[in-house]
Amino acid sequence: MRIDVVSIFPGYFDALELSLLGKAKQKGLLDVRVHDLRDAAHDKHRTVDDTPTGGGAGMVMKPEPWGEMLDGILAESPTAAASSSAPEASAGTADTREPSLGRSGATSGAEPLIIFPSPAGEVFTQRMARELAEEQHLVFGCGRYEGIDQRVFDEYSGRGRVRLVSIGDYVLNGGEVAAIAMIEAIARLLPGVVGNPESLVEESHEEDGLLEYPSYTKPADWRGREVPPVLLSGNHAAIDAWRREQRVERTRRVRPELLPRELRGESRGRHAAD
Ligand code: ADE
Repeated sequence: MRIDVVSIFPGYFDALELSLLGKAKQKGLLDVRVHDLRDAAHDKHRTVDDTPTGGGAGMVMKPEPWGEMLDGILAESPTAAASSSAPEASAGTADTREPSLGRSGATSGAEPLIIFPSPAGEVFTQRMARELAEEQHLVFGCGRYEGIDQRVFDEYSGRGRVRLVSIGDYVLNGGEVAAIAMIEAIARLLPGVVGNPESLVEESHEEDGLLEYPSYTKPADWRGREVPPVLLSGNHAAIDAWRREQRVERTRRVRPELLPRELRGESRGRHAAD
């Protein structure tokens, strides 16, 4: 998978060199390229922002550097359809691409997908991570200040696929941390990135939507806190049943809205007083 990231703080993305993602890059499973937006700002101060038209607080990111940077990235995209995504190239040809509705997953992988992290976007989920892991080329455009000039979104959603994505209902200083979170969630789903693919199966938010069960290791007694005896029993059916029960109860307690419908009416057991 190819991932391009545009930011005025490229240093944030040094974190992607660490751990499993760093190894995935070394193994060639992931090709991440980070671009400094200021390289596309040509005045003496490499200006990327300006005051909001119509007034108001803060600064807005100017469209010109974004246009130059994104045009360059799209022109170099490894995806087959990328070279026809400029309007002049597709004019008059039989362009069968889906219209971009800002959240069109329908043409998955056929052309680059531009993601702008934004608290105003659709919420990132494990389902979305799985969907995005099927893409060939993702481009993350990390905004700062009060955001990016709206015409940048309009321009690129008119030419291809664009999604505004939020990592949760809180406001960060910019899109960088959100992009790193999304990249990690997506990249670890790529074949070969996580050594043991079984470890992906029983995680929170996978498959049945339940949260994961609590984990223990040795010693069996730590500061008088004992590992639940069933885990030492060697009875795998009993262990599986215990873990499943823990997942259901934890989900009921912490995130009841995630419980599958058929489990909503089940006895609350030990947590009846919650
Ligand atoms: N930029 C600022 N806050 C954000 C959020 N919650 N998600 C994605 N991008 C953001």
